[in-house]
Amino acid sequence: MVLDTAVQRQLTGPEAELALLQQAERYMPGGVNTSLRRIQPPLVIASAQGASFTDIQGQRYIDYHAAFGPIILGHNYPAVVRRVNEILQREDLCGVGVAPLEVAVAQKIVECIPSAEKTLLCNSGSEATYHAIRVARAYTGRPKLIKFQGCYHGWHDYACRNIISAPERVGQRDPASAGMLDAAIDATLVCRFNDLNDVAETLQRHHGEVAAIILEPIPHNIGCVLPAQGFLEGLRSMASQAGSLLIFDEVITGFRHGLGGFQQICGVLPDLTTVGKSIANGFPMAAVCGRAEILDHFATRQGGDVFFAGTFNGHPVNCAAALATLELLQDGQVHRHLFALGERMRQGLRGILQRLKIPAIVAGYGSIFLTYFMPERPIRDYSDLLHNDAERFIRYRRELMKRGIFKIPLNLKRCQISFSHTVEDIDRTLQASEDVLKQLD
Ligand SMILES: Cc1ncc(COP(=O)(O)O)c(C=O)c1O
Repeated sequence: MVLDTAVQRQLTGPEAELALLQQAERYMPGGVNTSLRRIQPPLVIASAQGASFTDIQGQRYIDYHAAFGPIILGHNYPAVVRRVNEILQREDLCGVGVAPLEVAVAQKIVECIPSAEKTLLCNSGSEATYHAIRVARAYTGRPKLIKFQGCYHGWHDYACRNIISAPERVGQRDPASAGMLDAAIDATLVCRFNDLNDVAETLQRHHGEVAAIILEPIPHNIGCVLPAQGFLEGLRSMASQAGSLLIFDEVITGFRHGLGGFQQICGVLPDLTTVGKSIANGFPMAAVCGRAEILDHFATRQGGDVFFAGTFNGHPVNCAAALATLELLQDGQVHRHLFALGERMRQGLRGILQRLKIPAIVAGYGSIFLTYFMPERPIRDYSDLLHNDAERFIRYRRELMKRGIFKIPLNLKRCQISFSHTVEDIDRTLQASEDVLKQLD
């Protein structure tokens, strides 16, 4: 079969875009490989470098999407690409035994994440949370799980419910997909974030049945909801008292907020942690880590009773990318830059909104920021975000796209700054934001 791609036909501009989009639809349901990548207007990406990407029409965008989070240094970051190229000269996947790079990455994770005594590598955040939940069930001998409304932990049946629920589904059974096993959906109990009473009552109602409490320590899948004073500490002690494990899903917060994850910042240590995304600056690497006593249940160890496998686990390319990324994060320079630019962006946006008298809330932490279009109010859980004007939120981002600024036009999605962004990028973005906000009715 001869592939008839727009590139092969040397089309450019709108013609190329249309041809590729049609071809994508022809071969892939909806024309994308992840449902949340389907946006309006559609995008065909031609290249990415540093703080920006360019579409097939030649339009360059300053990128705050960062591929949903992994891009912490910048696209195609030279030191990462160099390490990947080097490893490809001498090694690829052998899938037996262990290779030095895997050991080096595991050592780095254990050294960085305060609660990690051991770790196992996999390829995606969903795999990592799946393994964490399964080992929690094996370790405690209990079937149930507590998650929080608005948190996302991947696409598997164990946790894929009550994420960005429609208002009428909040507090209800809200699986995110058809085809999920009823038993799995119902074994996952849903609580309100920042509500310790809700967790206490749920633990009481399901006494002796809860294997683990899993959460994003900052729920970034709904933008940025900060944990209230004492909430994480409260969860820690409730989990211990109930004989349940505490799992921090640090797939986003992990290396983006600090080398030791958010647990280092908040000082609360979970039993298990999952990491992914920015650990390898865009290469598919993730890990489950935690107390050795729990990790030793995995069947990677002789006598372990929890199955753990993955053809591509510890792939040399991903390990090389992770090592290069983690080494660059080591001295704090990257995080200082990310936090400074994040603050400049948030302050700048607040100033603009005040000047224009637009009721909105600028939220964020470190390199993460976003604007909720709703009157000022404390944001404690997902229900508070139901006041966000989703239509306006999306329209604002579509207008920014026209000005070469990319923030994914989907409700509640966060923006992420990378090390490659500059003060000039931030200021240009603020200027574009002001222009758009002035006209947004
Ligand atoms: C907190 C969190 N956990 C897990 C996942 C799943 O990770 P992946 O998409 O790599 O499977 C995500 C993805 O967005 C996430 O944000």
